[in-house]
Amino acid sequence: MISRNTIDTVFEVARVEEVIGDFVQLKRAGSNLKGLSPFADEKSPSFMVSPTKQIWKDFSSGKGGNVVSFLMEHEHFSYPEAIRYLAKKYNIEIEETEQTSEEIEQASEKESMYLVSEFAKKYFHEILLNSEEGKAIGFSYFKERGFTNETIAKFSLGYSPDRWTALTDEALKNGYSLEFLEKTGLTIVKEDKKFDRFKGRVMFPIQSMSGRVLGFGGRILTSDKKAAKYLNSPESEIYHKSKILYGLFQAKQAIAKNDNCYLVEGYTDVIQFSQSGVENVVASSGTALTPEQIRLISRLTKNITVLFDGDAAGLRASIRGIDLILEEGMNVKVCTFPNGEDPDSFAKKNSFEDLTLYLEENAKDFIQFKASLLNEDAQNDPIKKAELIRDMVTSISKIPDRIKREIYTKETSRIMDISEDVLVNTLAQILRKEQYDSAKKTFEENKNLEAVKREESQLEKVDFLNVIEENILKILLNYGTRELDFENYSNFLNQDGEIERKVETKTYKVYDRIFLNLQDDEMEFSNEKFRTIYKYIISHYHSNEEFDKEKFISEIPQELASEISDLYLSEDKYRLDNWKSKNIYPKTKDDDNVIVQDVNETILNLRCYLIYKMIGELMNKTKDKNSETNNSEILAEILHFGELRKFLFSLLGNVTPLNHYSQYN
Ligand code: CTP
Ligand code: MN
Repeated sequence: MISRNTIDTVFEVARVEEVIGDFVQLKRAGSNLKGLSPFADEKSPSFMVSPTKQIWKDFSSGKGGNVVSFLMEHEHFSYPEAIRYLAKKYNIEIEETEQTSEEIEQASEKESMYLVSEFAKKYFHEILLNSEEGKAIGFSYFKERGFTNETIAKFSLGYSPDRWTALTDEALKNGYSLEFLEKTGLTIVKEDKKFDRFKGRVMFPIQSMSGRVLGFGGRILTSDKKAAKYLNSPESEIYHKSKILYGLFQAKQAIAKNDNCYLVEGYTDVIQFSQSGVENVVASSGTALTPEQIRLISRLTKNITVLFDGDAAGLRASIRGIDLILEEGMNVKVCTFPNGEDPDSFAKKNSFEDLTLYLEENAKDFIQFKASLLNEDAQNDPIKKAELIRDMVTSISKIPDRIKREIYTKETSRIMDISEDVLVNTLAQILRKEQYDSAKKTFEENKNLEAVKREESQLEKVDFLNVIEENILKILLNYGTRELDFENYSNFLNQDGEIERKVETKTYKVYDRIFLNLQDDEMEFSNEKFRTIYKYIISHYHSNEEFDKEKFISEIPQELASEISDLYLSEDKYRLDNWKSKNIYPKTKDDDNVIVQDVNETILNLRCYLIYKMIGELMNKTKDKNSETNNSEILAEILHFGELRKFLFSLLGNVTPLNHYSQYN
């Protein structure tokens, strides 16, 4: 770690106007300095630096701060990187504070890998420009590709000599150890033999956002069918290909400034674009796009435009990428190139004006893009069309922002000529399915924990609430999809100004009725196991027309499956009928009235119980001498709940479950 001392010295010595002066042309304006904003495209200067206060302010972007924050904003350095940069600029020796021996070993191992990679980059570049072989083979190849000298310098392109140990020998001669040559993959060591991994290839150094060399890509120049066209550094302590974007170091300012990032396939696409003047471009070379890579971009902009050539394989891979980008909350556009062209070849053939015009005119938002796939593919095939619509809605479901989801739903409805209702329902279904999957995942993760909990809960006595909850599940499992008539009660004032109760009969699916009632009561199952099962049941009902017992059992985790067969089998174990006179109605289960009554009573019992608990809590409050709350207010509340309870009891008929509460609590 950099010592406090060094940091203080850096802040004392560094002059904000000198540091910024390296990046922005500053002119005197009174006691301040003024320049064009490096963060925005502007014609008249709005960027101010105050040498007396040692601060800067950019009025077009609103950014501002001290010398370190400028470097962090402009160069996208981390804090320590900014300090190191300043220390180097002002020749301040960096004092490192003590680290544990393990930290030192770790740090120095990574540091050594960075150092040898940096050395290799310089070596390959030097060879490309100044050796006979490098000039004849590597340099001329890049020239043929149309790369200018500036481009070759900007991307530090290089050439690795076609000899077994050219780099290895040179590195060893310069004091780098074989250990780190091997760990970075630059040298392959086999028993007592060693050789250069990238022998005879043109080299593309892969850099971090702040410019550190992490690894290399090397392109073969011969047409050897057996050897890979591109070879990359192996995964190592410093090279994690899923967390790296090629070209980000060179592109970061342009990405922030243009508030958009073009995403292409490979090294040559990035370089050709950049040379054409479209500098906000990166590649996820060699891998399918990862969330980590997307997050790297999202530090700079929320807008990504994915570019790809017309070939089908690339297309499918990019489509997966689209959903990932949406999931990260970013906006995504897609632009395809004419058949046979990739970004590299297209940029090479066209001027900057034509290229930017093409991108502007052909970049479509992901909905339009997906819709355009249909137009080419299967306009008159209803099955394909339905599949595509589902696919579009799936993409929309990935967007975290609800407003955006709605906008895209509307757009899909318009473009695909399908009613918005259907789309909204499908979207809801997909979202529920995701909730279901994530519930399942959580369940899997907590399985071991649950097992312990379950043992504990088995020891607990079966309480009243448990019986109600279990009964709810039994009803759902057995009669959930039955459509039955339920009575709704509401109070209204009649002509004489008296409260009257109105009864309306409405048909519900049993599961809807229960679901709505439990939601009204904001009721959560107290029994952990029941709560999970309930979630699964509701999800299943929401995503399937019918309740398919076999399918349901096959979808749920094994542990719950046995739980559920218990629920099916132990029908009568804790029947609530115990509490009511059994001969009120005949107990044929499939009788609609029996089911309706069972549902009503279960819900009412639950409500009575919740009220009973609430009254109990209020009673306890009145006993609490320290309570600030006015006792008469509490009593009023108790009376209110008492009324409510009486009303509920009246609905339950001649059943008075009160004694049972006391019995079970
Ligand atoms: N690429 C890769 N690995 C491969 C092939 C391609 O990483 N085996 C990446 C490279 O980054 C390359 C991009 O995909 O820049 C484009 O591929 P391709 O056109 O095949 O590479 P070029 O070097 O342009 O080859 P060619 O001259 O034959 O077009
Ligand atoms: Mn190519």
